[in-house]
Amino acid sequence: MNNPGSQTAPLLEIRNLKTWFPVRRGIFSSVTRHVRAVDGVSLSIGRQETLGLVGESGCGKTTLGRTLLGLDRATSGQVLFDGKDLLTLPSRARQILRPRLQMIFQDPYSSLNPRMTIKGIVTEGLVEHRLLRGTREQEAIRLLGEVGLPPDANYRYPFEFSGGQRQRISLARVLSLRPEFIVCDEAVSALDVSVQAQMLNLLMDLKERHALSYLFISHDLGVVKHISDRVAVMYLGHIVEEGRTEEIMDHPGHPYTQALIDAVCIPGRPRRRKIILSGEIPSPINPPPGCPFHPRCPRVMDVCRREYPAECRQGTRRVYCHLCGPKQE
Ligand SMILES: Nc1ncnc2c1ncn2[C@@H]1O[C@H](COP(=O)(O)OP(=O)(O)OP(=O)(O)O)[C@@H](O)[C@H]1O
Ligand SMILES: [Mg+2]
Repeated sequence: MNNPGSQTAPLLEIRNLKTWFPVRRGIFSSVTRHVRAVDGVSLSIGRQETLGLVGESGCGKTTLGRTLLGLDRATSGQVLFDGKDLLTLPSRARQILRPRLQMIFQDPYSSLNPRMTIKGIVTEGLVEHRLLRGTREQEAIRLLGEVGLPPDANYRYPFEFSGGQRQRISLARVLSLRPEFIVCDEAVSALDVSVQAQMLNLLMDLKERHALSYLFISHDLGVVKHISDRVAVMYLGHIVEEGRTEEIMDHPGHPYTQALIDAVCIPGRPRRRKIILSGEIPSPINPPPGCPFHPRCPRVMDVCRREYPAECRQGTRRVYCHLCGPKQE
């Protein structure tokens, strides 16, 4: 911690990560093709930074989050956490690091055991990882306090709580392991607007209090704009644009980002000609050659059909588009 280099190095660095799921066919279950859910993603997340991850349904957001936590098996690439590659680390060393990375999901109810009391749920991981200091009771009360729930919640069961309260309980459970990095996968999407705002404020408070970093996955660009320091836009397993939130939201560089932003109303956004997204996202089993967005792109050129676009840097952001360059700035 005292090493200044380690302070500036990103907490998490993802390099050319691929997660392909085999598609099995026939009586011998031979693998004929793959679903390329994550197809060469490179990203970094700093300490105490929130990276928003957006993109249409099926573009690979959840798979990326799950792969970082080892819940889906990576096909290739590197996931450097605090400088150590989680994909090649011996299993004992990985187990020691494991509590430092956590994930919360859209539907907390399905991940909360309905037969356990809240005390049992929020301290289960502490017991499993032998991290319990003091009694389960004391620790549960402390954790519930962290997420704004009263001590008497300890003796109740998940069904007695609202959706927002259940999401707080899953957060308390995750916090029990003192994580540094949390994947929030559509964590506020099922909540109504006022509860959503409270949950976002809680996440931001906890980030400050415990120096957390988040990968915040959401289809709601307004929410992402509110909470994220940086935003990455994903399309068909690839990151097509990534950079500081205001830069991406106010001056998107990729036609796909423009179309996503144009599809929703975000207050304070500069006016410009809209891009309307037509057609469906192609199958990740058989992705198009060249730029993955070219079949739907209103500004498609010949080169887009042939070549995958190289990284183009504009200020603090990266854009993967053949249109990007000095002429477009
Ligand atoms: N275990 C799996 N086996 C095979 N294919 C999978 C598996 N998990 C995900 N996929 C496929 O990978 C692709 C990406 O799915 P993923 O759930 O990561 O998308 P997403 O961006 O999170 O979508 P959504 O916004 O709807 O949650 C989809 O085509 C999906 O069908
Ligand atoms: Mg998902």
